[in-house]
This record gives sequence, structure tokens and C-alpha cells, in this order.
Amino acid sequence: MPELAQRVRGFGTTIFTVINELARDYNAINLGQGAPNYDAPAELVATMTQAAQAGKYNQYAPSQGVPQLREALASHLHRFYGIEVDLNGGLVVTCGASAGIFASIFGSIDPGDEVILLEPFFDIYLPIITTAGGIPRFVPLEPPNWTLNAERLREAFNEKTRAIIVNSPNNPTGRVFTHEELMLIAELCIEHDVICISDEAYDHLVFEGHQHIPMATLPNMWERTLTVGTAAKTFSVTGWKIGWVFGDPHLMTGAWRAHQISSFAIHHPAQFGVAHGLQLDDRYFTELISFYDQKRQRLTRGLDAIGMPYFMPEGAFYVMADFSRFHVGNSEAFAKYLIQEVGVATIPPTSFYSEAHQDVARQYVRFAFCKTDEVLDAAVERLQKLRPLE
Ligand SMILES: Cc1ncc(COP(=O)(O)O)c(C=O)c1O
Repeated sequence: MPELAQRVRGFGTTIFTVINELARDYNAINLGQGAPNYDAPAELVATMTQAAQAGKYNQYAPSQGVPQLREALASHLHRFYGIEVDLNGGLVVTCGASAGIFASIFGSIDPGDEVILLEPFFDIYLPIITTAGGIPRFVPLEPPNWTLNAERLREAFNEKTRAIIVNSPNNPTGRVFTHEELMLIAELCIEHDVICISDEAYDHLVFEGHQHIPMATLPNMWERTLTVGTAAKTFSVTGWKIGWVFGDPHLMTGAWRAHQISSFAIHHPAQFGVAHGLQLDDRYFTELISFYDQKRQRLTRGLDAIGMPYFMPEGAFYVMADFSRFHVGNSEAFAKYLIQEVGVATIPPTSFYSEAHQDVARQYVRFAFCKTDEVLDAAVERLQKLRPLE
């Protein structure tokens, strides 16, 4: 049998697939993957369906995205963040944020370039960097509050650093970086002439007391930031895989060329549905926060009752909980135990770490709370079976 290419041999199966399969086998309640178990707003689905039935949107979409979506996104970014996107080369619609990240890395990194990753990181960053020939440099956030250590970050920058990937609001920790933390990253990027790839997939999921500040809006960061976004989480349409990258047209050229040779064009009718969503009035976006805040409170109240400590999420829809009172194993062992013995699926954050730093999160698992209240309550009820270690 012919061999697989060397570059993919080490990739393995993603933790999401592994956990989903195990959850299915054991009939566990799945608080693993960050996909809602409720439907998208009906008007988005109707808009997509009308586009599919219109008889003219079932062939290739324009490679940069349909003008309706590009214009809706530009005005959305202006409405919420005061960002001015150049529709002429400054924005490309991608197959989810995932392909946006792929295009941004492939378009920006040369073999031998160093790329700084803050740990824990969304798992796809690392294999994309290494496939592009980049060399990762890891800076772990520090539990239990997942703070950024300024000294360690400063030490990671050097003359070989080409890019840093920042993800705030953060998956899996729930951190939303403060203005001060973002300014530190920005200052280092400017000092070392580094590109910032800013994954802002959860930009609308930020809870009271915290604020999402797009990296591209900080002084002198526009020309060195590629911002990646997605409709997946804001509109509960993870199945549509509609994302984007925007930035200064010069920097965007790389992402754009990488997009052309990978997907080239994205699902045509779904782009109309997302264009509709981005134009919804402010109420949709404030209600979205209350909706998720209520779920955040519901799950964390359950964890309080069980006595499992956690970091209260500032954004996104995940809770990192410390299970060390209940289990002596590492996060993978505990996640397996939870599925098999308790009937609840979570994500062990091991695959969000470099090998050298896996111990940082060995006593944590990630719960996703983008689930109906019944599912959250049923999971909490099962978790009550857990008993503290003697
Ligand atoms: C931080 C982060 N970036 C990117 C993605 C991928 O987004 P998409 O489904 O739009 O590809 C996710 C999905 O969970 C994510 O959590």
C-alpha cells in the first residue's frame, strides 16, 4: 500500500472526532464540541433557501465572496468596531474561520519563520504552521486565570519571528484579553515587525464587564493584522462553514492567493443567509449575549453545586474546569472516565498544547455550554455522581 505523505503522518484524528465517537458509543451527553444543539435563526435559513431556489446561485460564487456578503460584512464591521474594510482586495470569504486561518498562515509564513502561539490554542493552528514550514514558539497562559505572562511573551519574540496568532475571546479558556494585554502584544509586533493573525471567531460572545477589542483597531496594527472571523458561532450555523479574513490589501494578497488554490469559492446560497444575519439590528447581538450568559450561569451553578472549580468565562461558550478534586489522572483519562462512567462528554485540552506544556492543563477539561437548558441540566445531574477523592 502506498505511504501517506510525511507531512500528515503525525496529525492523527482530531480530538473532536475522537470524543464525538466515544460519546456516541456510550450514549453520553455531549458538552464536547462547540456546536449548538439548536437551530439557526429561521430568517437566515429562509434567506439561504430562497437564494438556493432562485435558480442563479447554485454555481460557483465569486472567489472573494458574493458582493452582498462582502458589503454586509464591511458595514457590520463599521457599525460595531469602526473598522473600514477595503472591498477592493481587503476581504475574502473563506470556508469557515478554519480555512481563513489556513489562508492567513499559508499566505504569510515562509519555511524557517517562527510563529508565536499562546497556549492553549485552537488545535488546527499548529499543524498548519508546521505544514507551511514554520517553527512554532509557545507561550502558555497561566492557570487558573489564564493570564498572559508579559516576560515570557517578550522572550518569545526575536529576529526570526514572522507572526503571532492571537485568539480572543479565547477557545478553550473563555479569556477575553484586556486592552493592556492586547497593547503589549501590539507593541511587540510593531517593535519586531511581526504579523498578527487575530482569530476573532467569538467576537460577539463577550459577557458583561468585558469588551472585545479587535486587534486591527489598535494604533499602527491595521497594516500588520489579518483578522479571521466566522458566522458559525454568532448565528449558530457551524454547518455552513462561512468565514472570512480581512485586513490591509497588501497583507491580504497572501491570504487571497492561498484561498484561490484551496477552496477558490465558498458555498454560494449560504453566503446570502449570513449577509442577512450580519445586517440584523443591534438587538439580535445583545440578546445573543443574554442568551449565552444565562447558559453560562446555568452550567457554572451546576459546577458550584458539585464543588468543581472553574474559570468564569469572560467570552466564548466554554468553561475550563479543574477536576483534580475528583480524579488523579490527566485530562484525557478524566474525559474518558466522564464519558464511560458518568455519561458526559467534554474536551480534554491536551491537543491545544505543545507536547512540552501539556502538563499545564493536565487537571482541566473544557465544557461547551452552547446547548439547550435541558441538555445542560441533564449533564449537571449526571455530574453529581462524581465524588471527591478521599
Ligand atoms: C477559536 C476558533 N477558531 C476557529 C474555529 C473554526 O471556525 P469555523 O467552524 O468557522 O471553521 C473555531 C471553531 O470552534 C474556533 O473555536
